[in-house]
Amino acid sequence: MGEFEVSLKVFLHKCAEIFGQHNSTVGRQTADALLRVDTTGVQPADREIARYVGDSLERAATGPHRELCATLNAVHASLHWRTWQAPANASANNSDIALASIAGPEPEIMIVSGSIRFGVLAMAPGAHYPPHSHEAEELYLALGGTAEWRKGDSPFAPVEPGTFVHHPPWMSHAMKTNAEPLLTLWAWAGNIDTGTYRMDAEAK
Ligand SMILES: [Fe+2]
Repeated sequence: MGEFEVSLKVFLHKCAEIFGQHNSTVGRQTADALLRVDTTGVQPADREIARYVGDSLERAATGPHRELCATLNAVHASLHWRTWQAPANASANNSDIALASIAGPEPEIMIVSGSIRFGVLAMAPGAHYPPHSHEAEELYLALGGTAEWRKGDSPFAPVEPGTFVHHPPWMSHAMKTNAEPLLTLWAWAGNIDTGTYRMDAEAK
């Protein structure tokens, strides 16, 4: 096995250990799927990465999940980073949000999994990920940067690094960053078809 394949496996096993501690279907299914992942033959990507991705990782490296962040640091430059883009039914896109899909059902994703989606998301300071919802049950793990998160009709509230954020199916959610970049892991389970992803109206 090459260095990247080994490092990716180490990172995903560390993620499995932590997601498995969350008492939810998505937590358990993510842990199960990540432990079964075969990284043999997975090729490192070589894409341009926004500066705030590295900044967010640097910040997360001193946070509560520094061991996990060290394993992410070993692979992050070789993930499939892209700018976040809303699906065709919404016009939003935002170069201040970067996303790397690591596992999921489509063949172009690094690791093909029929049961979960899993990846990393970073947001620049002062960015806004507008409200959206989907049928998949979702679990985020904030790694670095204190951003504000919103669930359903609740007001935006700060989420500290090291915190899980759980969204049951169809719960609308949004995030915004202030002075600090955000780095977070995310997982989907249940109906992981992105066709159910939709943008929601901004709450008043
Ligand atoms: Fe979501």
